[in-house]
Amino acid sequence: MQLLRSITAGVLLSVAAPALAQTAQPARPTVTATSPDGSLVLTVTTDSDARPHWSITRKGKLLIAPSKLGFIMADRIGLQRGFAITGEERGSGDSTWEQPWGERRYVRDHYNEVLIRFRQSDEWGGHLMNVRFRLFDGGVGFRYELPEQPGMKTAKIADEITEFDIAPKGTAWWIPGGEWNRYEQIYQKTAIDAVATAHTPITMKLDDGTHLAFHEAALVDYAGMWFKRADGQKFRATLSPSSHGPSVVRDLPFATPWRTMRVGDDAAGIVENDLELNLNEPNKLGDVSWFKPAKYIGIWWGMIRGDWTWAEGPKHGATTERTKQYIDFAAKHGFRGVLVEGWNKGWNGNWFGTGDQFRFTEATPDFDLKAVTDYARKKGVHLIGHHETGGNIKVYEQQLDDAMKLYGALGVDVVKTGYVADAGGIIAAGETPDETRMEFHDGQVQVRHHLKVVETAAKYKVAVNPHEPVKDTGLRRTYPNWVAREGARGMEYNAWGQFANGPAHEATLVYTRMLSGPMDYTPGVLSLVGAEGVPHASTLAKQLGLYLAIYSPIQMAADFIENLAAHPRELEFIKAVPADWSESHLISGEVGEHAIFARKDRSSADWYVGGVNGEDERTVTLTFDFLEPGQTYKATIYKDGEGATYLTEARHRIAYETRTFRKGDTYTLRLAPGGGAAMRLAAGK
Ligand code: NOJ
Ligand code: CA
Repeated sequence: MQLLRSITAGVLLSVAAPALAQTAQPARPTVTATSPDGSLVLTVTTDSDARPHWSITRKGKLLIAPSKLGFIMADRIGLQRGFAITGEERGSGDSTWEQPWGERRYVRDHYNEVLIRFRQSDEWGGHLMNVRFRLFDGGVGFRYELPEQPGMKTAKIADEITEFDIAPKGTAWWIPGGEWNRYEQIYQKTAIDAVATAHTPITMKLDDGTHLAFHEAALVDYAGMWFKRADGQKFRATLSPSSHGPSVVRDLPFATPWRTMRVGDDAAGIVENDLELNLNEPNKLGDVSWFKPAKYIGIWWGMIRGDWTWAEGPKHGATTERTKQYIDFAAKHGFRGVLVEGWNKGWNGNWFGTGDQFRFTEATPDFDLKAVTDYARKKGVHLIGHHETGGNIKVYEQQLDDAMKLYGALGVDVVKTGYVADAGGIIAAGETPDETRMEFHDGQVQVRHHLKVVETAAKYKVAVNPHEPVKDTGLRRTYPNWVAREGARGMEYNAWGQFANGPAHEATLVYTRMLSGPMDYTPGVLSLVGAEGVPHASTLAKQLGLYLAIYSPIQMAADFIENLAAHPRELEFIKAVPADWSESHLISGEVGEHAIFARKDRSSADWYVGGVNGEDERTVTLTFDFLEPGQTYKATIYKDGEGATYLTEARHRIAYETRTFRKGDTYTLRLAPGGGAAMRLAAGK
């Protein structure tokens, strides 16, 4: 039977189609709520099978058509049917909180909320299920809260039936969920109704220009959500699986992560949006001023390109001597950090996807950890540590506390972790000491593991930057030592194949992966070549623009130090550009096309402007209306040179300019194919 749906005066009615009887069903209890500015209106009710539904209008237009809520359980009939609304609680908030570091210093948290209590009839199990919705002007978040109740001590969740039925047509940018290469994939651009199963964030542009991004917040002790298209433009939350049966096993009471939808009139509306951060708990670590946002270099690009090895031998990268050389360079140029990979035992065998030989406290014979950290301390430099696990979290967890303690004691206050293994290839402890279990990188077991690493590191004042991670869901608010992560194709792919990431990759990341949080993309390969001379899909100016487009409080200058030194003017910019901002604005951009940001330094009155272009050449006019009135800024500009394009050796052509800007001035900028730009606006100089 086809039903016509209409939302009238906040009451959802199911009306039989004209050919059938025209009488309206009796109205069922319905809850409505609005965002603070009234633009988003939520309606929650139950349908004729007593299934809970939610829907949303924005500015009077249907955005999310009635979409189901509930769970499929592993040990009982699902929490799907037979529900009645038994109560509601309302609240609202309007506060501003301060980030210890980030894209902006102050974050406004302004919302209305409603908690809706559902009870299932006894014939369907008699379960209690609460859903809390929080409505912001820039989107909505909701989560399930399963209260203590007779008959269910432990929830064994096979999957969710949470739906998102997107009413208007549009385009989506997404990567597939559950595939072997985790999040390290090139984004696809398709019609919304051609998406398969996607990771989140998934970004959409509706035909009327409205931008949406679906994701989740506060993913703690639960499985990551994949966004699975069920039919037409209707999606369902499906949970990353587990080898021990149900995707999630939790004792009651507990709350799930928030399912989130950012919404904006344009691309900036979803980029300058702190929805997920606001849905996370405040800082649990107290004073974290020991973490210093900073830039770093490293013994890394040489291994990624294949010039050096992680394993011991004649080409071993992490030698005491080379590390001292990198420390000298860092000290000379003001880089706080030097990353050293391959310093520890365990790399010699087949570590990829196994990792049982890794020793996180034992250095290779040619690397004197104590001597190197003493040397660094004298020079005011800090080593950035590295723990590659090969996905073996069983082995890593056995050594975790000792490993973090060692780093903490030696002043190694940031650690990059790694989980190189195919999807489903995490090796976790089983029930008995000899048993192991295979898990996904975003399943409940690995979600728990990451938090254990972050909490253990915090004990020793160490910050964490996981590669092959679980996606970011805003937990940096609660655990500010979780400073960055990979979770997308980073610079490393450019070492491995011609134009490997493609010219539009970073201009897509800004609107997709980057909505989740800081990324250790590792910009600054000024030589623009990978292994065997393969060229990058980037101009030289784009390498500088990346420091403004892709935010991280730890930003690498990834090239060999010789290549950095060979570009003294570019190096000056990399040295100057901050890794911590008081404000950030997307001043020009479209998903997958280009992204230019204006960001204000947190520790001075200077502004920085720049970003990345996609595949096509374009000219943009920037308006400097963000500047302080009455202030003069001396701008040093780095931009694509005449004829620059990523396609030829002209990718190295860069142009320099100095200008004076005041508030309201405009500047027209040509961006090359695969290009970018960067400028420093020094206040009052
Ligand atoms: C993959 C990471 O992304 C890369 O940065 C790291 O160097 C290697 N794994 C080795 O751990
Ligand atoms: Ca990686």
